[in-house]
Amino acid sequence: MLEEKQIGNIKIIICENKQEVAKTGAEIFAKAIGNNPKIILGLATGGTPVGMYKELIKMNKEAVVDFSQVSSFNLDEYVGLDINHSQSYRYFMNDNLFNHVNIDKNNTYVPDGKPSNIQESCLSYEGKIKAAGGIGLQLLGIGSNGHIAFNEPGSSKETRTREVDLTETTIKDNARFFENEAEVPKKAVTMGIGTILEAKRIVLLATGENKVDALKRSIKGLQIAEVPASFLQAHSDCLFIIDKEASSGLL
Ligand code: PGA
Repeated sequence: MLEEKQIGNIKIIICENKQEVAKTGAEIFAKAIGNNPKIILGLATGGTPVGMYKELIKMNKEAVVDFSQVSSFNLDEYVGLDINHSQSYRYFMNDNLFNHVNIDKNNTYVPDGKPSNIQESCLSYEGKIKAAGGIGLQLLGIGSNGHIAFNEPGSSKETRTREVDLTETTIKDNARFFENEAEVPKKAVTMGIGTILEAKRIVLLATGENKVDALKRSIKGLQIAEVPASFLQAHSDCLFIIDKEASSGLL
């Protein structure tokens, strides 16, 4: 394992490149599953975790990690996208992880982006996390604007699973996954910061220079709603695994 540093309350591992970030993250997840085969994972989408999921798929095929008893809750989902839409987060999770490992899909949860009653659906998602016993290990990415999940700047530390408006920055950042910017949904359902902070352990992955400012403000700045990831400083077991590019000027 690479050297772990600490800034304030946040533990940090700086990797050579994004491949090393993926491997380091996968090793931590595999070990946590090994220690507790019935672990409840919190999972994330976006470009960053794809490499880590590839590593976990490899480890599962080599019988190094067994997902058969694992459950998972995803952070968020676009509002209005059908689960079969290629950019829905349910589709992403099936495509990038669940279809390739021995997880029971009945034990995988992604917020519903097309519920008949969105408020009820959000409450029920929170209820399912609680009923499962809470999240043991939560994976996060970070937006270039400091968001975690779709908790955009302005989100308080107490927020729970709810419907939110996406900011222009996020819509622009995510346009690369769609035909064009106009196709990016304007709303999402997301776990709140309060929900995320209840996870027993949190691992955040970040790579590339696009994340430098957000990381600096999250790790060294004040805990403020303008930088939602800064609230992670309040968690007692939060590890950032980042590459050299993303760590510029941090230490
Ligand atoms: P990315 O997104 O991994 O695609 O950069 C991260 C995020 O928005 O949380």
